[in-house]
Amino acid sequence: MSRYDFTTILEWDRIEGWFNLPQAVTLQTIVKQLPPRAKVVELGSYKGRSSVAIAAVLPAESILYCVDHFQGSEEHIISHFDVSNLLAEFTQNIEKFGVKDKISTLVMTTSEAATKFDSESVDLVFLDASHDYDSVRADLLNWYPKIKPGGFLLCDDYEVGWSGVMRAIKTVGLAGTVIAESLWMHQKPKPSC
Ligand SMILES: C[S@@+](CC[C@H](N)C(=O)[O-])C[C@H]1O[C@@H](n2cnc3c(N)ncnc32)[C@H](O)[C@@H]1O
Repeated sequence: MSRYDFTTILEWDRIEGWFNLPQAVTLQTIVKQLPPRAKVVELGSYKGRSSVAIAAVLPAESILYCVDHFQGSEEHIISHFDVSNLLAEFTQNIEKFGVKDKISTLVMTTSEAATKFDSESVDLVFLDASHDYDSVRADLLNWYPKIKPGGFLLCDDYEVGWSGVMRAIKTVGLAGTVIAESLWMHQKPKPSC
């Protein structure tokens, strides 16, 4: 594909979801800086829109763990979105975009998945699962210890409309920056010698 062939980007935009192009490009910039053999965890994959964006630019021999129970979030059920086939749609999309071999799909809750990872073993966690205060707080408390010193935590929907996300980040006491639209980022400090 030539540098000016945007066909793939247009196709990516057809994966249903909420992650927009400025957010995807910004997240890709961070992912590209990770070392080879990086471990990246996405909490909340839905139909694979953000998963494809991440997996497409993973450094060599890296892996993206996509954690989702594929039952939809509270807001999807309330809005009557069809979430009856999420896992199949996710799998089709990661196949279609040629990133299936870079992804390990963990069909389980985010808290169950946290028990499967060692402390300080993950280079980047992207948090985009349930958006209510208690769930986001639990995800932060469960997953922050899994991030390596110098690694990254990114949260989607850091905005007034999702007050639970903003409040949970604040009460857990993590300082960060909004880097694209509602995409928030924190880099875990390295211990000073
Ligand atoms: C906002 S969507 C993710 C959107 C996706 N990151 C994207 O940009 O296209 C949230 C997803 O989190 C999943 N989810 C919500 N709560 C969860 C939990 N406690 N454990 C696992 N998955 C969860 C839902 O099934 C849903 O697919």
